[in-house]
Parts: sequence; C-alpha cells; structure tokens
Amino acid sequence: MIQKRYVHAVVLFLSVCFFVCSVCVIKTVPDDMDGFGAQEDASFDHLTVAEQALALLPKKLIKVGFVQVGHESDWRIAATKSCKEAFSEENGYELYFVDADNDPKVQVEAVRSFIKEPVDYIVIDPILTTGWTAVLKEAYHAHIPVILLDRTIDCKEQYYAAWFGSDFVREGELAGQWLQNYLNRQDRGAQEIHIVTINGTQGASAQLGRTEGFARYLGKNDNWKLLAQDCGDFTESGGKAVMEAYLKTYSKIDVVVCQNDNEALGACAAMDEADISYGVDGDVIVISFDATKAGLQAVLEGKINADFECNPLSPPYAAEAIRRMEAGEQPEKKHYYLPEECFAAEEDPMVLMVNFESERMITVTEELLDDREY
Ligand code: AHR
Repeated sequence: MIQKRYVHAVVLFLSVCFFVCSVCVIKTVPDDMDGFGAQEDASFDHLTVAEQALALLPKKLIKVGFVQVGHESDWRIAATKSCKEAFSEENGYELYFVDADNDPKVQVEAVRSFIKEPVDYIVIDPILTTGWTAVLKEAYHAHIPVILLDRTIDCKEQYYAAWFGSDFVREGELAGQWLQNYLNRQDRGAQEIHIVTINGTQGASAQLGRTEGFARYLGKNDNWKLLAQDCGDFTESGGKAVMEAYLKTYSKIDVVVCQNDNEALGACAAMDEADISYGVDGDVIVISFDATKAGLQAVLEGKINADFECNPLSPPYAAEAIRRMEAGEQPEKKHYYLPEECFAAEEDPMVLMVNFESERMITVTEELLDDREY
C-alpha cells in the first residue's frame, strides 16, 4: 500500500515538472508564428500560466462530414469546390467528404459512417427528398447537428438545424412567366405552343420544384401543349439522349425547358446534329436553369434564350452556421434562401414578378462572364 502511494506521488511530481517545462518551452514560440494556438493578443500576459498553456495548445479542428450528391453537372463541381474551400483545415475544419455519385443508398451509408466516426456536424446535399427520417433520427439521438444544403427533404424539422438553398418552385415560375412574356412580345401569345421538358433526377426537390413552378404557367396558358417530360438526370449526356428521342418523335417543337445547363448544352448538341435551329434566331426556344459560366456563355452566343440561376455557393453559409453553433447560438430560422438572379440574351430585359417580388432579367455580356465565379 505504502509502495503504491509512493509510486502515485512520484508520477504526480513528474507530471507537474513536465507541465511546467512544457509551458516554458511553449513560451519560447515566437508570438508572430502563424497557425492554431499562436496568440498575438497583447492581453495574453494577464492569463495564469495554466491558461497560457491551454491557449497555446493547438485548437481542435471541427470534424464535418459532408455528403455530396455526385459530380453530374458544372453546378455540382462548383458546389464541391465551395465545400472544400469553406471546410478547409485553414478555416479550422477536418472534412470527411463523400461523393455519392447520385446513389441515395450511398448517401445514407455515408451519414451512418459520420455518426460512427463520430463527426461534430453533418452536412447533407440530398439527392432525393425521401428516405431520410430513420438516419436523421440516428444523428439526432447521437447529438450530431445536421445541416442541409441545396435540395430539401421530407422530414420533421426537428431532425436538422437549418437548410440553405434555392427556391426551386420560384425558379420554375420565373421561367414560365418569362416564356409567357416572351411569346407575347413576339405576338405569339395566342398561338399553339408545343413544349417538351428535360427534367432533372426524378424525386430531387430541384426537379419537383421547377416542374411545379413551370406547371403553374402551363395551367394559365391553354394554348401551351406539353408534349413530353423525360428525365435527363441533370447531365449533358442525359439531356442529349432525351432531346434526340424527342426530335425523332415530334415534328414540331417550339420550346424545350431543360432543368439545368448541362442538359441544355446536351439538347443543343442534339439539335445541332439534327440540323434544327434554336435559341434567339432559331425555331426552338431554349430555357435553362443554373446560370453557370458555360450556361451563360451559351446565352451570350444566343443558344439559350433564358437561364434562371441556382446558386451553388451554399457551403460558406453552412460553415458560418457551424461557427455560430460552436459559439452557442442556434440558427434563428430553419430555412434560408440564397440570392439568385435571372439572365437572358435579349438586350431589352424584362421585369418578372412572382409572389409580389420583382426580378429584373440581366442581359449577359462578356464583362459579366469574365467576373463570373462559377
Ligand atoms: O440541386 C441543384 C441541381 O443539381 C442543379 O440544378 C444541377 O445542376 C445539379 O446537378
């Protein structure tokens, strides 16, 4: 017993010596050294030795598990780049990134692996609206806050801290209203108009919302005939394949609504191959969503008539929400919409109005493209 007490006393003595020496060694680190733990604060001196030692310890990185939809489009690539920048080590994060390659099962498995790790926060850009309740309940019971980006899900709000993304229904409505006004400008307001749509991934809120919003204008215009709506999976190859099939089936197409820029570029390629004219001076009006650099380049060239922005830069909002949660704050709201704009090839841009909020279309120019981040 006495021997045991003696050993404890020696261990305690050595620990104190080690701690004091560590503080002395750490204190020799120059004040201007960059990186975690280096304090340039002049008020450092008033801290106790123990507090100084703690302040000089490297700060713990915040572990964030991020599950991305995939890499199907230019928009998605820009969103992934933004995620990696926002959750960089430099910013204080350790990022666990999973690209689900458009497979909903992989997304759920990724979230389970984040819970098991465990990470401090989970960020999800969900492929589909469905299939989330069970795994999000698991995260909730493991006390890991979840932040949703871009697309929405069908799930009780208590299972996630906040969502940052786009108003997809509004995007669809803006597209519908633009088409209505554009046809009126061309004196075609009463003509029979044959429309095809190339939809995004079936069951994604981006697809559901844009379809719903545009359908409101289909309902308001009896002369608009919706010939077909097939899925192009938000990819260029998907858009091309669907458009090729449409061109073989329908002899007259007046409008193609593509639910993202990559599908629109694919549809344009199919029309080029079939020798069908489109865009500003052509027979087929092309409408698109996203407003990526490639999409806006096509607007500038008169290939896409109008492009409705979907903002891919939501990761910095998630990083800011996490910073605030770390400081003990909770997001004030559940849902935050990102700022978005509408673009057209016309020099005389129209003003649209959805839900009493007006939107002035922006004419695409070379300068605008030069400054475009994504
Ligand atoms: O969820 C946003 C959509 O997904 C974008 O429109 C598309 O480009 C992406 O792949």
